[in-house]
Amino acid sequence: MQILVIHGPNLNLLGSREPEVYGAQTLAQIDADLAKKAAEAGFTLESFQSNHEGALVDRIQAAAHEGCHFIIINPAAYTHTSVALRDALAAVALPFVEVHLSNIHKREPFRHHSYFSQLAEGVICGLGARGYALALGHVIETLRAQAGKPA
Ligand code: DQA
Repeated sequence: MQILVIHGPNLNLLGSREPEVYGAQTLAQIDADLAKKAAEAGFTLESFQSNHEGALVDRIQAAAHEGCHFIIINPAAYTHTSVALRDALAAVALPFVEVHLSNIHKREPFRHHSYFSQLAEGVICGLGARGYALALGHVIETLRAQAGKPA
């Protein structure tokens, strides 16, 4: 697995959860589209969702030993609360893109701050499920460019 996609709490409910905010696509559809796009580009991609902070920390820590080169993460509500998840990403020192389906800056003030953005290579928010695809496009281009570099 070279690319790891991590989804935080309640994203397992996509499709039925506040569709006017988060869209109609299910998480399974989003993950299948991402896996297909990665495979077509010659990369392996794995997705992981959990409603539990510790499980997300464990998954990030494990990624460091699994040959993972890049993480795409939507920390969901933990975006605004979790120093533990931020520290896990800092500890493994893997580049990551932060994705949000909704535009968190257009919403309640408590959603405006992210513990992750300062460490993220880039942040995409407000573009719905397309945000994940755009993030993956960036990751693929970056990994291709790295592979093309002389050792
Ligand atoms: C979210 C935005 C968060 O504020 C919220 O808690 C989520 C989803 C998004 O994708 O728009 O669960 O990360």
